[in-house]
Amino acid sequence: MSRPTESIHGQWASRWTFILAATGSAVGLGNIWKFPYIAGENGGGAFVLVYLLCIAVIGLPLMMAEIMIGRRGRQNPVNTLRTLAKEENKSSSWAAAGWIAIVAGFIILSYYSVIAGQAMAYVFRSFANVFEGVTAEGAHHIYLSLTHDPERLLAWHTVFMVLTMVVVARGVKSGIEKFVKFVMPALFAILLLLVGYAANTGVYFSEGVHFLFTPDFSKLTTNSVLVAMGHAFFTLSLAMGAIMVYGAYLSKNTSIFKVSMWIAIADTTVALLAGLAIFPLVFANELTPSMGPGLIFETLPIAFGHMAGGALFGGLFFLLLVFAAWSSAISIIEPLISWLVENKKISRRRASVTAGFGIWLLGLLTVFSFNIGENWLLFGKTMFELLDYITANIMLPLGGLLTAIFAGWIMSKNNSTDELGIRVPLFNSLWRILIRYITPLGIIIVFLSVIGILG
Ligand code: TRP
Repeated sequence: MSRPTESIHGQWASRWTFILAATGSAVGLGNIWKFPYIAGENGGGAFVLVYLLCIAVIGLPLMMAEIMIGRRGRQNPVNTLRTLAKEENKSSSWAAAGWIAIVAGFIILSYYSVIAGQAMAYVFRSFANVFEGVTAEGAHHIYLSLTHDPERLLAWHTVFMVLTMVVVARGVKSGIEKFVKFVMPALFAILLLLVGYAANTGVYFSEGVHFLFTPDFSKLTTNSVLVAMGHAFFTLSLAMGAIMVYGAYLSKNTSIFKVSMWIAIADTTVALLAGLAIFPLVFANELTPSMGPGLIFETLPIAFGHMAGGALFGGLFFLLLVFAAWSSAISIIEPLISWLVENKKISRRRASVTAGFGIWLLGLLTVFSFNIGENWLLFGKTMFELLDYITANIMLPLGGLLTAIFAGWIMSKNNSTDELGIRVPLFNSLWRILIRYITPLGIIIVFLSVIGILG
């Protein structure tokens, strides 16, 4: 069977564009908003260690697998999996794994957009110098005044969704390179500035470092391990077809191993820097690390409110965060859009409007979870918490498991290693061992433990 050498949606201009776009996808709210608050909720050090381990032994091999599969199939995840399964004379029902990806993306973007909207609101608050001299209590009230107002949250959620769908409608490739090239380094610089500020808090900085990097395994529950693993998928944009469709636009002569390493390192560094900026502030202001999704919104303004030029730096920081979230949001929805365009034969524009409207509507559940729907609980979780839990902790690991099985067991050794193109035989074998045994077993063991079948 002859395989397409290029996707119908075109191709990245160069290896660099792919790296930028994939890093833009990986680095987002997951690193700066989510990682610190879940690390705080799950006791710090031991959780961080498990997370790093998951990135290395589950995330990295899986990222390589996804790029490899995407590049070989050159279509949306559903069609790619079907084509590659046929190539191996295996059941075309593997396409169903692509479906999990597409549905998960739809749900994730619905709440991602609401949080990105909160970051947008903070751009304006920062530039308007609202945080000047603010206390922890003041920052708390400022955050509540936003989240307790469904109209404001809804308005920002709407703005963010519109921005995302505008880029998606025009095609992922035009534009993305330009802004990621600028946003990533700038975000990095402001994070370093914030870590520098935190370092000046002396003993509190040590306390923050201790919290993040000294593992206390008595604080680690099986559920924390699941959350850490789920977050490894989330932060690397894995198991949802995002990296797979981006891989579909990648040229044949790029080293998949090198680009994956680069993306994983950049992504992890940003998350750790965010943690180092935030936890010293938590301890210096007698806040609790486990305060939840409001963590960055209630701590960082304290730093900005007390540093010279804080209004400017704060405004820039939240602006960059919005950009980072934007470049991630685009990738979350790309699998669905490419499916609509390829299989339903509708234009990118119509696909974007339709998908965008559905996601916006579902986003209302998250909007209300912070205010009038605070008490609409299911399994003891708000709607937002539930959507997050089901996607990040169940659908992503499940999608990852299927991807690993597909890459390691369904695809023949010849085809997968040919597409991966690793020249060192030892590395090739190492990847195959990881993807065939370690990655799937890791995921299964964590799942079984949480269900209570194991330990
Ligand atoms: N990785 C992004 C973040 O950390 C979010 C994201 C983008 C994502 N694409 C994804 C999460 C695909 C899961 C799957 O913010």
